[in-house]
Amino acid sequence: MIIGIGNDHVGVELKEHIKKYLEDKGHTVKDFGAYTTERTDYPIYGKAVADAVISGECEYGVLICGTGVGISLAANKVKGIRAVVCSEPYTARLCRQHNNANIIAFGARVIGPATAEMIVDEFFSATYEGERHQKRLDLIKKIEDGEM
Ligand code: RB5
Repeated sequence: MIIGIGNDHVGVELKEHIKKYLEDKGHTVKDFGAYTTERTDYPIYGKAVADAVISGECEYGVLICGTGVGISLAANKVKGIRAVVCSEPYTARLCRQHNNANIIAFGARVIGPATAEMIVDEFFSATYEGERHQKRLDLIKKIEDGEM
């Protein structure tokens, strides 16, 4: 898979760990920064990864900030993005199966590298189940399009 990854200054170390972990599993990882721990602003990186997913440059995204909240909020402002902040593997699996999430986010101040590995393993091995779930995603799209 081609995966876009992005983070703020808090997420640099965990990003490097997860990037290598995904590459070792055979994925191609495109790193949209931040590249250093110099203080920066998470919306920049949330937007960059979200745009890469929507354009098709990347199939999925991984976002990391202190909590995973700010960077996922930013990504979710991009039309068509379903970014889910997650701190355990169950939600990581279900957000693919039921919500067709296209970005997974987590917090470097919330979880450690071993949990992050479990989260990406679940996220990238699960498949969207469609059927009854599609109607709900269509409703979310209507909200996004200002139709409800
Ligand atoms: C940065 O201090 C912090 O606010 C950010 O990493 C993130 O946790 C925001 O949601």
